[in-house]
Amino acid sequence: MKKFARIIGALVVFSLVFTLFACSKQNVDGPTKDTGAETKKVKIAVIQPLEHLSLNEIRDTIVAELKALGYTEDKAEIVLKNANGQMSLLPSIYTSLATENIDIYVPIATPTAQAAKSAITDKPVVFSAVSDPLSAGLVDAINAPGGNITGVSDSIPVDKTLEFAKQLVPSIKTIGFVYNVGEANSVSNIEKAKKYCDENGIAYKEANVAATADLQQAVASIINSVDAFYTPDDNTVASGMNTYAQLALDAKKPIFCGADSMVKEGGLATVGINYVTLGKLTAKMVDKILKGAKPAETAVEYVTDYAKVINTDVSKALNITLPANAEEFIAVTRENSN
Ligand code: TRP
Repeated sequence: MKKFARIIGALVVFSLVFTLFACSKQNVDGPTKDTGAETKKVKIAVIQPLEHLSLNEIRDTIVAELKALGYTEDKAEIVLKNANGQMSLLPSIYTSLATENIDIYVPIATPTAQAAKSAITDKPVVFSAVSDPLSAGLVDAINAPGGNITGVSDSIPVDKTLEFAKQLVPSIKTIGFVYNVGEANSVSNIEKAKKYCDENGIAYKEANVAATADLQQAVASIINSVDAFYTPDDNTVASGMNTYAQLALDAKKPIFCGADSMVKEGGLATVGINYVTLGKLTAKMVDKILKGAKPAETAVEYVTDYAKVINTDVSKALNITLPANAEEFIAVTRENSN
């Protein structure tokens, strides 16, 4: 009887091992490259410069969409990196990633993409959420990037946001631009904002925020001489959005901004893009490049489904009358991530 049990046991173990083996052989289908007898996992690095609501949403969407496209744990390894606001660390983050046999790099936001452009020359790079890839020096041309880097831009309609600002607060005479002059994405958007203001008889003042910790002092330097603030999708400011929003709210001044996440954290309004759409587009482009498309010939893509977003907690606090047609905008209430 004992002998019989042993034989049954051996059979069970054998069939288990066989099933496992058969399953692992099936994994060579899909995105994983078959390198012969062994299955090699695709390695995808996703890098962000710091934390704020929008970048986290973009990162999480890219990861979820990659999984939906077949880059599941058994077939792919997704390595997540974060410079935590210390942009000077980005070159060494890439140097160390380069020793890990990464197949494709996915930098989120302009500073991270610029660092990838200089550090990575032998592997494809697909950036996500870069406001102005041309002025950031990432690509030769939108339709023919020319090198090993392409991606998805989150170019924002600065004009439309400022027009919306005038509609919501017709009394605006002077607007304060609060941003980091070190972010190419912000410099490019502020140029557009200045042009709009010049053409529409609005004066402006500027305050530089070199690091999130400088926000309070920067806002204080202009708050008494402006009627409202405008900040594009600036990473340094977005990372301290709650502080900024509170300062502005205490002085009863609205903030118009570049992203829905900044409105959720206390800005008054934006005409912004949908970052879930952007994250999904990014993952699809990563998949396309991993399947053989060349970054040099893969045009930069844009998200163009803009939406008006208003924070109704803030509009109430500032006594601002909302557009009569509520279907015209998305209403959000205040979220606090700090
Ligand atoms: N567009 C920004 C860049 O080019 C990144 C970004 C995406 C962002 N969403 C944002 C910045 C929201 C501030 C707020 O770097």
